[in-house]
This record gives sequence, structure tokens and C-alpha cells, in this order.
Amino acid sequence: MKKNKKLLIAGNWKMNGLRKNSLMISNLMKYIKNKKFKNTDILICPPFTIANIFSTLSKKSNLMIGAQNCSDKVSGAFTGDISPEMLKDIDLEMVILGHSERREYHNETSEIVKLKAINALKNKLNVIICVGESLSQKKSGKTLRVIGDQLKKSLPDKISSNNLIVAYEPIWAIGSGLIPNNEDIYKVHEFITKKLVEKYGAKGKRIKILYGGSVNKKNAGEILSIDYVNGALVGGASLKYKDFKSILDFCN
Ligand code: PGA
Repeated sequence: MKKNKKLLIAGNWKMNGLRKNSLMISNLMKYIKNKKFKNTDILICPPFTIANIFSTLSKKSNLMIGAQNCSDKVSGAFTGDISPEMLKDIDLEMVILGHSERREYHNETSEIVKLKAINALKNKLNVIICVGESLSQKKSGKTLRVIGDQLKKSLPDKISSNNLIVAYEPIWAIGSGLIPNNEDIYKVHEFITKKLVEKYGAKGKRIKILYGGSVNKKNAGEILSIDYVNGALVGGASLKYKDFKSILDFCN
């Protein structure tokens, strides 16, 4: 698949994965090495507990390992939190921020997401900022307004051209097997591109925008071929080697 930007296929493992799942990482590394992806970056974001193991395992490979969250604080008395410096210390390259599950279950506001993003970027981590509307917001025609507002409040002011990625994840599509039609995905991605260019100028044009929400081996090819879609954030289908590999098979 030829696109104007390098694709990013990112696996978000959420609260899944144990040490024994290192086997999948080894298989993935072998596959990536054999296939020599030129136009696709591949990322796995496991839970913190196994991130160090995966990062060590994949050190000399083209598989990137990332995290699913980080603190907006530098260090100190914040029980249970993990700082960007700690993620960098185990050689993680990226962090997902503002996932709708964090926004919903941990009351993360866009303002907090922005602070986290600034903190992560300071520590040379690349960030994937997630935005997306709920079903009721979609039904009442508010999708673009909601996303515009999330972008306005969540995006850091200073970036370099390649350290920020945005993921469009309609909340109702996550884990549901439902996906927006191609036209809707196109419209939202085009809108996000416009907002990024308004905010960052030429740099904004180079920011990748991923689609996330029920991406699987059956629909990935079609979704990835939509204009303005530069990759996918994959949840459930990133947990099994075969499923994730089938998605990667659409890329090169
Ligand atoms: P899903 O999750 O692919 O299981 O729908 C995507 C996500 O939440 O990032």
C-alpha cells in the first residue's frame, strides 16, 4: 500500500499480557525482519509490568515498544504513577495518552492529557494523543465539534514534526465490532489534519493520524486505504500474533 506518509500500526494491549507473551514479541520481530517493512512502523504498547522485558527483547529489532499512559509529574510522592523519565529509562519510544478508557475511568481531562504530553515530549518520548466521540455525540451530529474541542485542549503547543501522532478512536467503535463508514473516517481525519495545520503550520501536515476502534484483519486493508489515514491503533486484534500479523500483511 503506497501512502504519502509512513504508516504506523500500533498495538494497544490494555490490561492484558503476561511474561509468557514474550513469545509473541519474538515471533513479531522475526516476521518484521523477514518482511523488511519500508513504509510501516510497528509498535506494541504492553502493560508496564512487561514493558521492560519486551523492550530488552526487541532492542536490536525494528519493533518499537511503548506505554499506555504516563504521569504529568516529574517524580516524587505519587503512589502508583509512572513518569516519562521511567519509560525512557527502559528505552520505550512512545506513549499513548488520552485514550477514552483513561478519560472515562480515570477522569482524565483534555487539560491533563496536555500536561502529560508536554511532560512526555520533554523526556523525548513520542506521544499518541487519542480523541473520539461517544455514540450520543455522534447521533446528535456533534462529532467534529467534540473532536475539535479535544484537540484544542489536549495538544501540546510545541512539537517537532515527528514526535506527535493523533489517533481518532470513536468511543462507540472500541471493542464493539462497529466502525464508522469510510466517508465518516475520511471526514474526521481531514478535519483533524486541518486543525493540526492551523495549530502547527507545515509541521502539522506531517503528523500521522491513526484510526482506532475495532480494526481487524477483515477491515484493516480498507481502512488503511482511506485518504488521511496513516495507520491504525489496534486493541483486541493486537493480542494474538496471527491477527496482528494479518493486519500488518496489508502494509509494506
Ligand atoms: P479495539 O480497541 O481495537 O479492541 O476496538 C482499540 C483501542 O481502544 O485502542
